[in-house]
Amino acid sequence: MKKPIGGAGPRALKTRIKKKRGLKNSSRRWLERHLNDPYVHRAKAEGFRSRAAFKLIEIDDRYKLLKPGARVIDLGAAPGGWSQVAARRTGSTDDNPSIVAIDYLGMDAVPGTVFLKMDFLDPAAPDRLIEALGGAPDVVISDMAAPTTGHRRTDHIRTMQLCEVAADFAVSVLKPGGHFLAKTFQGGTENEVLDMLKRSFASVHHVKPPASREESVELYLLAKGFKGRVEREEQQE
Ligand SMILES: C[S@@+](CC[C@H](N)C(=O)[O-])C[C@H]1O[C@@H](n2cnc3c(N)ncnc32)[C@H](O)[C@@H]1O
Repeated sequence: MKKPIGGAGPRALKTRIKKKRGLKNSSRRWLERHLNDPYVHRAKAEGFRSRAAFKLIEIDDRYKLLKPGARVIDLGAAPGGWSQVAARRTGSTDDNPSIVAIDYLGMDAVPGTVFLKMDFLDPAAPDRLIEALGGAPDVVISDMAAPTTGHRRTDHIRTMQLCEVAADFAVSVLKPGGHFLAKTFQGGTENEVLDMLKRSFASVHHVKPPASREESVELYLLAKGFKGRVEREEQQE
């Protein structure tokens, strides 16, 4: 690896990987981008497990989802950046945890978070999550992304399906006034899901936080102010 070179802004390329290291061009570019990513450096400095933590921080700074004492379900939580942010902002502790996280990958313990190593698509998952939380959540957050197959369209469809299942879960468990945030893709969310969210929540937004890479089609769907199940059922009649 060459020494960092001086540069202009925070996104200027500073560290270059020598071509002769035997890496494929695509891997070399990924490594260079990672090493020069200011969010990666901030995550390390501030003790976050992932640069993704800053996406939730930026969204929460703007939309105020994570109030002290709020109960939160974090879907697709590993390696734990969002759980860390949620626990810190709600003041969740190990003695009185208010965050329950789920992922089929393992994850080191996050203070103030109960972790379920389980597939969210397992039919038993919704009940297990509510049982672990001890009641209905104020906020459901989902950063779930399907594993990449190399076929972009397939990956998008699978992640959008996860978003839709998460949305169904949110409207069946949230407390009135609660919020739902989930990863989706530009142009990806089905109208049916959007319509359902618009009927069920006071407001629905598409959010692209600065920490989400510009070149990525990733986007977050935010539904604020759950109207409650009774009202929703009446609206559908
Ligand atoms: C982008 S990562 C989440 C990063 C996390 N928000 C953070 O800040 O550290 C997406 C996660 O979704 C998980 N995931 C995807 N499908 C899932 C499923 N069906 N059940 C549980 N977790 C799932 C993956 O295992 C992966 O860990």
